[in-house]
Amino acid sequence: MQQLTSSQQLSAFVRGGDVGLVPTMGSLHAGHASLIERAKQENECVIVSIFVNPLQFNKTDDLRKYPQTTIADIELLEKLNVDAVYLPKYADIYPEGDEVQRLSAGVVGESFEGAARPGHFDGMLTVVHRLLQQVNPSHAYFGEKDAQQLCLARQMVDDLEMPVKIIGCDLIRDADGLALSSRNVHLSNAARNNALRLYQALTRAAEDFAEGERQAQNLLSTIHGMLNGADIKVAYCAVVNDKTFAELNDEVDCGSRVIIAAEVGGVHLLDNMLLVS
Ligand code: PAJ
Repeated sequence: MQQLTSSQQLSAFVRGGDVGLVPTMGSLHAGHASLIERAKQENECVIVSIFVNPLQFNKTDDLRKYPQTTIADIELLEKLNVDAVYLPKYADIYPEGDEVQRLSAGVVGESFEGAARPGHFDGMLTVVHRLLQQVNPSHAYFGEKDAQQLCLARQMVDDLEMPVKIIGCDLIRDADGLALSSRNVHLSNAARNNALRLYQALTRAAEDFAEGERQAQNLLSTIHGMLNGADIKVAYCAVVNDKTFAELNDEVDCGSRVIIAAEVGGVHLLDNMLLVS
């Protein structure tokens, strides 16, 4: 595996043909590995980027605390037979320094996760756009774990007519159902137990939907009811159209997504589930 530590090394490496890019912020786990395995199946060459993007953190403390495990990450990527890891420095991605012009994630970027973390999605799209331009992949892989991010990446690529296909990959969970996240390392045992309720509540809502419940408000009441009493501070919980991320307040149809974010033991966690009958 090639380790590319500058944009110059990356441009010397990049090639045509089917190239899959998996953008990450490192601290890799089985969720990331599933994206990489999918990319390996569908491309001749797979590049994984690891860059903790300061532009998408609205709180400096959150950025400072973001786990970094580069040595272990590289070992995992070697095992997964990735062709190259791109480890840019700030100046490789943002040569203009502090004068970066952020892309705007628009209205969708201001809702839900964007409302909880103002500016987050502008920063995310800005880095994804730069990475896509530098790597010029045929395919780029994103997890449904961050469904709003996936929706916005798709929208950007469509709007800017970028020559890349965005591939959405399944959300990967621990055996007990907790959605894998780099932030889970910050959960105490008690908080982790509480966090499981997010999955359990989403599962109940999905079961209710499968059994015929079609009212968004009833599905959401069930979720809130199951979270009551636990040390869980819900940031948002909603049913959305999976393509547009528009909120659905009344009748919900098959293929809608129920999304939730909550503060559990001081850790901001996201989860979601597709509603299917
Ligand atoms: P990061 O949180 O490292 O995630 C990288 C990719 O892995 C994202 O597409 C995310 O949705 C996916 N992922 C994370 N946990 C997952 C899980 N449990 N199941 C499936 N996929 C999972 O998301 C980012 O980094 C950044 O915002 C980035 C896109 C790299 C831009 O900086």
